Amino acid sequence: MTSKIRKAVFPVAGLGTRFLPATKANPKEMLTVVDKPLIQYAAEEAVNAGIKELIFVTSSSKRAIEDHFDKNYELEAELERKGKTELLDIVRSVVPNDVSCIYVRQPEALGLGHAVLCAAPIVGDEPFAVILADDLIYTGKNCVLGQMVSVYNDRECSILGVEEVPADETDRYGIVDPGESDGRITKLKSIVEKPRPEDARSNLAVVGRYVLNPRIFEHLVDIPRGAGGEIQLTDAIEQLLQDEAVLAYRFEGKRYDCGSKMGYLQATIEHALLHPDLREEFLEYLVTEFGQRAKKFLHAIND
Ligand code: G1P
Repeated sequence: MTSKIRKAVFPVAGLGTRFLPATKANPKEMLTVVDKPLIQYAAEEAVNAGIKELIFVTSSSKRAIEDHFDKNYELEAELERKGKTELLDIVRSVVPNDVSCIYVRQPEALGLGHAVLCAAPIVGDEPFAVILADDLIYTGKNCVLGQMVSVYNDRECSILGVEEVPADETDRYGIVDPGESDGRITKLKSIVEKPRPEDARSNLAVVGRYVLNPRIFEHLVDIPRGAGGEIQLTDAIEQLLQDEAVLAYRFEGKRYDCGSKMGYLQATIEHALLHPDLREEFLEYLVTEFGQRAKKFLHAIND
């Protein structure tokens, strides 16, 4: 069966203030986990889910993202000249040939909903995915977006990737009020952006994966500013619920919140353990040396 989801939107216009000064001149999506920038993990997930058009909603100072997905003739010529074919393959396979990258600017930082709306002329009247590169999700084989696209192909409803979060962290996420469940799939009763823990209907949080019907754009055009004074995708989804069913999908996989320093560090360590060239040496280091070295190091700097 051919997939109904051909396009993915990557909102990458945000400032990344939590990682300053690293993100002063570099986009936060270009932060590297082991040897790949976050945005490449996100793009690979989309490609693995069968997506053919990658739509990046960017802003000024995000040019490094465009360069990353573009051809680098000079580098390729140099690697070719030196016979470094493995590296050449790595550089050339950042995006497969049958996948195109499209860039659109978000002129003002008015929120996630506004960023998605900026992609409307390119998405057109078809269902599409949204991926937030900050949420890096490891699944082994079937990526989260792939899992969600399969559900969409079957049910044709908008779907949000969700997971349970600690009850005192609801004010960092879109929080779902779950209705009837069928295995991993739950029908949404409502959704609220960043409710305080005492107001939250559950601790089921939306992470950065969405498959949306194009009708969402009709709501994005109209909604007033919401949490944080921003145009929130969550608020438009709450309105979409008045027209049609929306599903929450409890994905299989481990999520790293790479928008936080702790999540980013965990992602780095665990992805080093997943990396075929590093795994053994790094595991050996962590298990046999790291504890001792950390103690000695902290002892030395405290003296
Ligand atoms: C955004 C969404 C929020 C979602 C979160 C997932 O928030 O607005 O609903 O739960 O991403 O990472 P942000 O992290 O941009 O504040």
